Amino acid sequence: MALAHSNIALAKYWGKRDAELNLPDVPSLSMTLAALSTRTRVQFDPSLEADQIVLNGSVADASTTKKVSAVLDRVRGAAAIASRARVESMNDFPTASGLASSASGFAALALASSAAAGLDWSSARLSGLARASSVSAARSIFGGFAYIEAGAISAAPLDVSPLARDLAMVIAVTDAGPKPVGSTSAMLHTQATSPYYQGFRDRAPAIYEEVRAALLSGDLARLGDAMEHSALAMHAAMLAARPSLIYWNPATLAVIHGVRELRARGTFAHFTIDAGPHVKVLCQTGDAARIRSVLAELPGVQRVIVSGPGAAARLLPSHEFVAPAPSQGSRGAS
Ligand code: PMV
Repeated sequence: MALAHSNIALAKYWGKRDAELNLPDVPSLSMTLAALSTRTRVQFDPSLEADQIVLNGSVADASTTKKVSAVLDRVRGAAAIASRARVESMNDFPTASGLASSASGFAALALASSAAAGLDWSSARLSGLARASSVSAARSIFGGFAYIEAGAISAAPLDVSPLARDLAMVIAVTDAGPKPVGSTSAMLHTQATSPYYQGFRDRAPAIYEEVRAALLSGDLARLGDAMEHSALAMHAAMLAARPSLIYWNPATLAVIHGVRELRARGTFAHFTIDAGPHVKVLCQTGDAARIRSVLAELPGVQRVIVSGPGAAARLLPSHEFVAPAPSQGSRGAS
């Protein structure tokens, strides 16, 4: 059984250099989150006629089954085994809610399925396997902070400064509204129709370098500024797509303004937003509880999760396949 944490990009990936191979068009850099994790158990069984996929206690739909079987096929090919597999997976947070379940999901699946097939793969190779399904999943193989270069086949860990190790993410879960458009179709649509995609793509490497340099030197003000610029440039490209991709709802904007007010009063707090309506706020661990209370009061905020940096994806004994109870405090889900 494998456990992998989700991650949130500080420098965003949006756009594919090669859609078939699923190679990223821009470099990205993320923080792995302790509070959001997926546990996945894989058993290859010669008596099965087809792969059986159960997610959070329910049989997976056809499109998810296809994506999971594609990972299993790669593992079967490498291990020279023909058996179908039974896959059970549990998230300790709401699935497909825009909280990056594909990142932790495909990272846990890559590790659990390769181990079940007897393959003892390096982190880089596991990251490449996860990346073929989801670029963000390539980063979830690693703990702390991780990056993946444009066109790269796998991610790598980034050893950050002591100041950056004290960072936390406060996640404001806002009204879900209609189900968001999935990241793959949304980014291909942005690439195909947005006149601003090229602007995002041209600018992304410099923003990524700025985020990376700021993390390494512990320059929090520069980090926060570059991180917000990355997210807003990505959303600006989506807004200009035809038809437009608008992931924000009124609560998303309320949190953005709430974060700006916190900052105006001297708190280090900077937001990022993915392909969904939730707002993730980067802050220092000591400020997380206070920021959480402020965001929880904003209209439309349903729940606030606080997380510190998470560990790398890892194998666990099979009997630990139970969704963990949410823990309290600034380093756990709440
Ligand atoms: O790799 P995917 O399909 O999970 O897409 C991730 C896209 C963003 O979350 C918006 C950005 C990122 O770098 O994680």
